Amino acid sequence: MPFKRVYQISCSAILVLVAGLYACKKNSGGQGLPPAQSVGLKSVAPFPMGAAVGTSGLQNNAYYLGTMLTEYNSMTSDYEMKFNIVEPEQGVFNYAPGDYLVSFAAQHHIRMHGHNLIWHDPAALPAWVLSFQGDSLAWENLFMTHIEGEATHYKGEVASWDVVNEAIRDDNGQLRNQDSTPGDGTGSIWRQHLGPDYIARAFQYAHAADPNALLFYNDYGQEWGGLKLDSIVALVTGLKKRGIPISGVGMQMHISILTDTAGISAGLKALAATGLLVHVSELDISVNPNNNPNIAYATYLPQQAAMYQFVAESYRANVPPAQRYGITTWEFSDADSWIPAAFGRKDWPLPFDSLYHKKPAYFGLQKGVKD
Ligand code: XIL
Repeated sequence: MPFKRVYQISCSAILVLVAGLYACKKNSGGQGLPPAQSVGLKSVAPFPMGAAVGTSGLQNNAYYLGTMLTEYNSMTSDYEMKFNIVEPEQGVFNYAPGDYLVSFAAQHHIRMHGHNLIWHDPAALPAWVLSFQGDSLAWENLFMTHIEGEATHYKGEVASWDVVNEAIRDDNGQLRNQDSTPGDGTGSIWRQHLGPDYIARAFQYAHAADPNALLFYNDYGQEWGGLKLDSIVALVTGLKKRGIPISGVGMQMHISILTDTAGISAGLKALAATGLLVHVSELDISVNPNNNPNIAYATYLPQQAAMYQFVAESYRANVPPAQRYGITTWEFSDADSWIPAAFGRKDWPLPFDSLYHKKPAYFGLQKGVKD
């Protein structure tokens, strides 16, 4: 081989090597990770694929970080943007955990969905709100200050918000108020102190703070049909008709391998018929809904895979492309699921196992999202 040719080949080889090393270094984020693979759910789905994530996993767990980067192009804050974290004392805002997530998302070109501005759950409210004494004006001020403060802080950094989460009762489709029906969670201090139209005002305050953010109403149980679904549809349709700045509706979809598939499709269809964006916002599929302590969970993995595939196929079948905000799972590994702690049972609801290996559920989801 002539010298010139050998010289050219070795030069190109060196360039390829240097570029490879550079790409490795870049993808590893300087944390000794293997380079991110170019394949992932985000590459096969015709809409965004997301996961709820927390700062600690991204910061401390290379498998968690690697999976997020490889698989997803949308992320939701797991707890970092909830009221108790963001405003632990009145007027004292703590944005550090959420800031970490938004800058991570920006750095990696991942869409950031903020969760959430207003929720009744006492576990996500600081003590000062739970014990707040004041007239309706003082409550309105507290409410408005929180929403405007948070939405202004993240203006231009979050693409979208769950503005109000879970405002509707399970049993009768009414707004949560002072009720405390078993299985229905608690009432809502927001409805209690602010009146029924607090939901519309939450959207108006968020919109005033960040006019470009897409604003969602987020809830669970649409797949049950009946009053819960009808009330959610009536609420969001009513807001839209009045010109309240609502862009979409989130169907959390905390379901199980036993969930009636017809209900899932009917729920998606009814939400799509509102004309709003539809986000499957917190998907997980329990394999042990009846809390069997001796469950041989591997037996149920094929059923779980089939259900993941069904959800994704039903989403494509029932939600027109222009209304698909995407499918988001609540975390992605069984190691990080909220289900075992929240329901006091063993469970494995997510597409990755607790060692961050792909489960049959992953491949079900992958099949289901493909056009
Ligand atoms: C969960 C979090 O993942 C847990 O860490 C926390 O302890 C409880 O809340 N619906 C929602 C989410 O809208 O905010 C919940 O997140 C899961 C159910």
